[in-house]
Amino acid sequence: MEEESKASEENTSDNASKHSMWVEKYRPKAFADIKGQKDILTKVKAFISQKNMPHLMFAGPAGVGKSTTALVIARELFGEQWRENFLELNASDERGIDVVRTKVKDFARTRAMGNVPFKIIFLDECDALTKEAQQALRRTMENYTQTTRFVLSCNYSSKIIDPIQSRCTVFRFKPLEKEQMFEIFDKIAKEEKIQIDKSGKEALYICSEGDCRKAENILQSCAAVATKITEDEIYSLASVAKPKEVNEFLNLALQNKFIPAREKLLETMLKYGLSGSDIIKQIQKEVWNLQIADPEKVRLVDKCGEIEFRMTEGSDEFLQLEALLAQFTLHAMKK
Ligand SMILES: Nc1ncnc2c1ncn2[C@@H]1O[C@H](COP(=O)(O)OP(=O)(O)OP(=O)(O)O)[C@@H](O)[C@H]1O
Ligand SMILES: [Mg+2]
Repeated sequence: MEEESKASEENTSDNASKHSMWVEKYRPKAFADIKGQKDILTKVKAFISQKNMPHLMFAGPAGVGKSTTALVIARELFGEQWRENFLELNASDERGIDVVRTKVKDFARTRAMGNVPFKIIFLDECDALTKEAQQALRRTMENYTQTTRFVLSCNYSSKIIDPIQSRCTVFRFKPLEKEQMFEIFDKIAKEEKIQIDKSGKEALYICSEGDCRKAENILQSCAAVATKITEDEIYSLASVAKPKEVNEFLNLALQNKFIPAREKLLETMLKYGLSGSDIIKQIQKEVWNLQIADPEKVRLVDKCGEIEFRMTEGSDEFLQLEALLAQFTLHAMKK
């Protein structure tokens, strides 16, 4: 990780940057570049201006700026020397908590440089730690409080034991909003000299669901193929069906046209290479856009949940999808 960001900084020559990952190339280096997460940034900035900070816990979905914020904190606090004062570890590393402990020990032995009284240890994917490992981590945190501050990152704070949570100030990161994602897309498009119109940006937003890393990766893959990026390309690269197409077969089913609906469903799945559970998630989202009464939407969404569960339990995908479509058609027949 440390090496990755080092590499992205050094890759400023045109040729090298062409080959670097955009997620690293466009990782914000200052607070001003981090989109959204306003409340969190305000509080974090206050910690930095006081050169004092509690242990922090960043919880939230993937690709919304948790690691980025931790890196920016280090840059702001330590300036040029941030690398010497920032240790990034991955908690889910197969070598386990013992390695974490040894590394922390080595790192925490020396004092921080400059006028900041502590170094920062960033521990990614903490929710992957077992309860026992979390207990060990808790002791490690206590032992080195004099010289270090921990920033823990996880997707679900509920998976972190209470004694750790109570030692940290918990910040909950949110998925980025559409406008914020669009700003990021526009910036990248300008820098990389690619064209992406509004429908393309919409598609990218829908496919990534507020996960910025995912969006940037899809965009980079599309850009490798063409400089003018279309919505079609994005959907096919992201393996996501166009919402319009999902809407089409659902509407066919709602109009009592079961066979054509089934054909269209199969065609869509083949076209985008979707699995049963992929398409169910999209159907579930699209139910809300159908022209039916709200209680019916709720009932159908409930059905989606049930069918998805049956699929994960190993039931035949196509059989289950047909059963789901049948529910839509039954709705039509009731009228
Ligand atoms: N709030 C944001 N503003 C601008 N860019 C962002 C933001 N969040 C994410 N990104 C972009 O997405 C990339 C990945 O973000 P980051 O590593 O911070 O995700 P994360 O929240 O740590 O996710 P994970 O839980 O998967 O580790 C960044 O390099 C950056 O390009
Ligand atoms: Mg991260």
